[in-house]
This record gives sequence, structure tokens and C-alpha cells, in this order.
Amino acid sequence: MQTMEYQAQYQAYVSAVEQRLLALCDLYLPETARIGEAARYSLLGGGKRVRAVLALASCAVSGKDPMLALDYACALEMLHCYSLIHDDLPCMDNDDTRRGRPSCHCQFDEATALLAADALVTAAFEVIANAPLSAESRVRAAACLAAGGGARGMLFGQELDKKYERERAGEAELLSLHRHKTGALIVAAVELGCIAANAEPDVRDALTRYAAGVGLVFQIVDDILDVTATTEELGKPVGSDEANDKTTFVTLYGLGGARELAENNNQESLQALDPLGSDAWFLRRLAQQLVQRRK
Ligand code: IPE
Ligand code: IPE
Ligand code: MG
Ligand code: MG
Ligand code: MG
Repeated sequence: MQTMEYQAQYQAYVSAVEQRLLALCDLYLPETARIGEAARYSLLGGGKRVRAVLALASCAVSGKDPMLALDYACALEMLHCYSLIHDDLPCMDNDDTRRGRPSCHCQFDEATALLAADALVTAAFEVIANAPLSAESRVRAAACLAAGGGARGMLFGQELDKKYERERAGEAELLSLHRHKTGALIVAAVELGCIAANAEPDVRDALTRYAAGVGLVFQIVDDILDVTATTEELGKPVGSDEANDKTTFVTLYGLGGARELAENNNQESLQALDPLGSDAWFLRRLAQQLVQRRK
């Protein structure tokens, strides 16, 4: 029963996000510009929408209407999508497919992909600036997204990711890499939900600890899938990490060790939700799904 309820809830969140993203594209990313067309190609072309769902569910667990966080959730998906477009470029991971289709720079060209990604970042902040929430909330949301996505967050993680193609990383370095490149935006997701809900500090603290664990597990699983899944399942090239000589938890500890690390960190994420009691059932299920995911 709860599985049905979980899936229906996830799907309802995703539908709301897809619909709103389309409307926001019409406002901020016109198809008259080729970069608008390219940005829409990447943004509206699938994706699990995990970060948006986390934002909406965090708003809900804070006792508010999840749809209050809808524009913040969409802004985060825009920023995430820009990070994927750049991540696939020849100077980064050099991957030709994403979300089951040619990567943005393959469908268009490198310059267009670069600019389309930039347009997604600026649009993300425009979405936050114009969101139907208080001015104080919007300022906090903009600061949160900038901190999570910027040189202290995701971008620093991407810098470390490139660095450890050339140098060997140990456990401490990999943990830092994962926490920045993937964890930072996943933590920002729950924070944005809390900002929209004006959540109590104890709720925010529990959710932030949960998201830090989820973020780490998410990237460990991504690295496992890069070795164990098929390109059809993932919609992106498998074996990309090996081709780029990346250090991952799979290269460090093997598949079994990486799985164990993901399981252990997932237990910690779940424990962080204890203070929220049964209200956090959806977030618990989500964490479970993310460890078991096949795409
Ligand atoms: C891929 O993120 C990049 C990582 C941080 C591992 P997702 O696995 O969430 O990609 P989409 O949004 O579902 O395509
Ligand atoms: C990407 O990590 C993290 C980002 C910040 C985009 P990966 O390079 O492993 O993500 P995928 O596997 O290409 O989606
Ligand atoms: Mg990468
Ligand atoms: Mg990549
Ligand atoms: Mg990967």
C-alpha cells in the first residue's frame, strides 16, 4: 500500500514540476533564441527530478503546502541541468549522451551548449527573484542556491573531480569530492524546501543531515551504476569514469565495498529523520529508492 502511495506521490510531485518548468521556459527561455531552444532541449528532456522532489517533500514535512516550494524546486532543476550540460562537454567528461538523447553539445554545438547552460543559471536566479514568496524568502533562496552551486559547493566538487583524474585520491579526498559535486545541491534542495516553508530550525537541521547522507549515497550509487548498468538503462554512457581515469569508491573499494558504504551512509540518513517521526515516511522511502535505483 505504501509503495503505491509513495509512487503516486513521487509522480504527482514530478508532474507539478514538469508543468511549471514548461511555463517558466516560456517566460524566461524563449525558443526564438537558439540557446533557448538548446536549454529547453536539455531541461525538458527527462531526468528523475530528484532534487525538485526533495525540495517539495521537505516543504511538506515542514508542515506547509509543498507547492509553496515549486518555483524554488524548478530553479534548482535548472541549475542542476546546467551542471549536466557542462559536465558532458569535451573538456569535462566528454560524454555524448544524456537522458537517453545526444548531449546538448552533440545535438547543437559546443558554443551553443555552453551558452544554453549559462542561460539556465541566470534563468534559475530569475525564477527565484520572481517567485510568489516574500522578499526575505527569495533572498534566502538565492543565497542558498548560489552557495550550493558555486565555488564552495558543486563547482568546487567539479574542480576536485577533474583534479583526481590526474592524481590518485584516497577516502578523505573522495568523500570531499562527492559532498561538494553532488551533496551540495542535494542539501540545497532540502534547504530550499525549508526556506519556502519557513521551517523550524530543528526540522531544518534534521533534513540537512539527512540530505548530506543522501547526497553522498547518490554519488556512490552513480559510480556503481557507471560500472554495472547499461547505457540504455542510464540514458548516459556507462564506463565514463574508467574512460576518464576517475577515482571512485568502486576503484577504491570494489563493488562490494562501495555498496556497503552506500548502505551504511543510508542508515545514517534515515536516522537523521528520527526526530520527524512518521511525517517523514516519504523521505524515508525516497532514500531507500535512491540506494536501490537502477538509473
Ligand atoms: C546526475 O544526476 C549527476 C549526478 C550528480 C550524479 P541525476 O542522476 O539526478 O540526473 P537526472 O537529473 O536524473 O538526469
Ligand atoms: C556529475 O558527476 C556531477 C555534476 C555536478 C554534474 P558525474 O560526472 O558522475 O555525473 P554523470 O554520471 O555524468 O551524470
Ligand atoms: Mg563529471
Ligand atoms: Mg559525467
Ligand atoms: Mg557518473
